Amino acid sequence: KPQVPGQVKHYLQFSDLNREEYDYLLKRSAWLKAKFKSYETWHPLHDRTLAMIFEKHSTRTRLSFEAGIHQLGGHAVYLNTRDTQLGRGEPVEDAAQVISRMTDIIMIRTFGQEIIERFAANSRVPVINGLTNEFHPCQVLADIFTFVEARGPIQGKTVAWVGDANNMAYTWLQAAECLDFQLRFSAPEGYQLDTSRLTAKSAKYLAICSDPKEACKGADLVTTDVWTSMGYEDENTLRMNAFQDWMVDEELMSLAKPDALFMHCLPAHRGEEVSAGVIDGPQSIVWEEAENRLHVQKALMEYLLCGRLD
Ligand code: CP
Ligand code: NVA
Repeated sequence: KPQVPGQVKHYLQFSDLNREEYDYLLKRSAWLKAKFKSYETWHPLHDRTLAMIFEKHSTRTRLSFEAGIHQLGGHAVYLNTRDTQLGRGEPVEDAAQVISRMTDIIMIRTFGQEIIERFAANSRVPVINGLTNEFHPCQVLADIFTFVEARGPIQGKTVAWVGDANNMAYTWLQAAECLDFQLRFSAPEGYQLDTSRLTAKSAKYLAICSDPKEACKGADLVTTDVWTSMGYEDENTLRMNAFQDWMVDEELMSLAKPDALFMHCLPAHRGEEVSAGVIDGPQSIVWEEAENRLHVQKALMEYLLCGRLD
């Protein structure tokens, strides 16, 4: 049922859900995935509409949300800045009031986190973060589901982040704090995490390593992302030079546990943040990771609209 703005459950960052809710979502994702794989129909969101607002490019996010809502019995509407009044200066608050009166759930990919927060504050229906400059919670949810599927619980494990202090890195940190695993972060000087964004809990779950080798040593999972995220293209040349020694290659992977996995949210640049040998090699699980966006987001949409169904 439509609700009053301010009283709706949204998913704007990883810390918006607690560990118990994640335990449920991970189980539910596996259940929904099994149903999908056996071509069983499951339409809890029959006649519901998802609005998808994109202010940045996307392949995986658009496809997984659109296919996902369809598989749950609903329908998606794709909106982008270029074609909507958002691109002509309509206030985010007004757009939220209107879009949330015509649809049941909304996904947004935009620039600053404050934009999605302003939108959500004025929305009568749940809003999901499909990536902002600050966070990418749906991706890390898929990554954790992928890890758990392959290796069992992530609690107590060590994840090495090799690369930029971007939306993915901060989301991994929130996940470590919520799900109780260690995050080792390694980036070149000038591209470190902003200490003002760390929480009281961070010290327990985060280790900052000046050398990527130190970060990867004994890790259960090694993960990275593009050196230049969307919206930061002007810094590309500077970043290419600064990150030269932060490519995840065979040598770095050899320092991790022998059964360590490699993940990348994609799109990837072979020969920059990851070598072809690693991303196309036996430890890489990037295609499963991409597919799992579909399954976890179905669980998430179902949960935000229907609550627990187990
Ligand atoms: N990983 C990810 O979010 O991919 P897209 O940018 O293609 O949506
Ligand atoms: N950090 C990247 C992720 C792309 C899915 C970006 O924000 O562009």
